[in-house]
Amino acid sequence: MKIFLDTANVTELREGVAMGLVDGCTTNPSLIAKEKRPFRPLVEEICSIVAPGDVSLEVVATDFDGMVKEGKELAQVAPNAVVKCPLTKDGLKAVKHLSSEGIRVNQTLCFSATQALLSAKAGATYISPFLGRLDDIAAVGMDLVRDICEIYRVYGFKTQVLAASIRNPLHVVDAAKAGAHVATMPFSVLEMLMKHPLTDIGLKKFLDDWNKSGAKI
Ligand code: G3P
Repeated sequence: MKIFLDTANVTELREGVAMGLVDGCTTNPSLIAKEKRPFRPLVEEICSIVAPGDVSLEVVATDFDGMVKEGKELAQVAPNAVVKCPLTKDGLKAVKHLSSEGIRVNQTLCFSATQALLSAKAGATYISPFLGRLDDIAAVGMDLVRDICEIYRVYGFKTQVLAASIRNPLHVVDAAKAGAHVATMPFSVLEMLMKHPLTDIGLKKFLDDWNKSGAKI
């Protein structure tokens, strides 16, 4: 399973990439707005940090013509840019249109298996089920990820399942068990994945014993 960082923060991205653990990045209008930087230089920097990993850049138009126009511009930002379109009627049309022109699209804000089926038929490169936001309304987000993985497997769809709105390490484990191709997560969740109190306690004990012995490597 690939790991993407769900952030537009270049410091986090540089650190994740330096660890060798980041395969790509997803952004959205809220994450971009948080950075308070001009759009184009920010996304160019993100794409160059993460290259050759994919970087999702989202349209803000909501009509078909606007999404296609913005999608074409976003696809020009860098070779690893993937256009993100919302899962609406116009968004599906835009996915069909952009993907038929060779532009890769991540279809976002997916909350049902029927939406995901249509998105795959439209030719999306990635489908983004938002599991945390389903959990927020007392629906089991991971059930959706499982359903989509199963449907895509049954029909051999090439669309990759990108588990999004991940809030904690258990989401990552469950997404991996479900067979999601990608999990996108905040930097804080990536850090949680590598922490274990028994690792810290064990390391301290080893080093205390070593230091007491006076031995050297
Ligand atoms: O990738 C989608 C993500 O940005 C949404 O996450 O935590 O805002 O639901 P969240």
